Amino acid sequence: MRILELRSDTFTKPSKEMLETMFSAQVGDDVFEEDFTTKSLEDKAAKMFGYEAGLFCASGTMTNQIAINVHVNQGDEVICDRLSHVYLYEGGGIAANSQASVELLVGDRGRISASQIEENIKADNVHYPISKLVSLENTVNKGGGSIYHFSELERIKMVCLKHNLALHLDGARLFNALVETEESPLDHGKIFDSISICLSKGLGTPMGSVLLGTSDFIKKARRVRKRLGGGWRQSGYVAAAGIYALDKNITRLKDDHLKARELGHILKSRPEIIDILPIDTNIVIFKLDPTISSTDYVNQLAQKGILAAPFGKQHVRLVTHLDFSDDDLGEFRKRMKN
Ligand SMILES: Cc1ncc(COP(=O)(O)O)c(C=O)c1O
Repeated sequence: MRILELRSDTFTKPSKEMLETMFSAQVGDDVFEEDFTTKSLEDKAAKMFGYEAGLFCASGTMTNQIAINVHVNQGDEVICDRLSHVYLYEGGGIAANSQASVELLVGDRGRISASQIEENIKADNVHYPISKLVSLENTVNKGGGSIYHFSELERIKMVCLKHNLALHLDGARLFNALVETEESPLDHGKIFDSISICLSKGLGTPMGSVLLGTSDFIKKARRVRKRLGGGWRQSGYVAAAGIYALDKNITRLKDDHLKARELGHILKSRPEIIDILPIDTNIVIFKLDPTISSTDYVNQLAQKGILAAPFGKQHVRLVTHLDFSDDDLGEFRKRMKN
């Protein structure tokens, strides 16, 4: 039976063309800043978003955690949504790596507003941590791929400027938001002090993320990456996949969104599913009847060759990606009828 992989968009494997590009990459030692292909990827990503510089890292967790570490001092406060990847899924890294405090806000599917942020900035008083950084996520994984309205981002930027806060974006799936809204990377680059973009999710590379910011910020980030053991050598082989992905795999993300919506239509007819979050991009999160646990349901789906991820006790997540084909969608439809 063919396996329908819907656990995450991180499961994609590099295409033959992507692999060929990787094999022929021009490489050097990146710790010595002599890897031509890594530098090309960093410059290309920085230019796309209008930043001075970029830093290629092994993962999105690494780019986020490095950014937080550069933006805050020990005891400072990071303001973010309670569903944020930086808080929930990075191994307690904000505490462990940066010894920082966190103000968790309850947003709308992971999206916090400018007014919520402003209300929660701490007064200048010795009792409080110093609010230093706002960290947003776009799209929000745990919010079911929800997208920020650009006007809200502009309002958040104004609050940050007014209160001297840095603004970071976990843009693991930022390109999903951009293809859906048709907004420009350059406009988003003007909002944030730093952005982390992932190449290994919807864009389909085997690994890697790029952190973007000013030259001074990236110089500091490079030092933190080295301290974390993330300095690498002939990283150009992987960076080549990133360049390929930025050239070839962005506009096609729209297909993933259409397929995700189609999955939603199919799931609507299932009596055991009592709710489906709005499907804005490539993530589908649905809620089960309370008599069925998400792990049991995921096991039942696995029996049909459909791999899904439990997302809490009652929720299940499906994610579409470039290795989930039209044929796979047809198979999904057939198998969900039984
Ligand atoms: C929103 C978000 N941010 C960051 C990450 C971390 O990326 P990585 O798995 O490369 O560390 C993920 C991973 O799924 C994610 O979904």
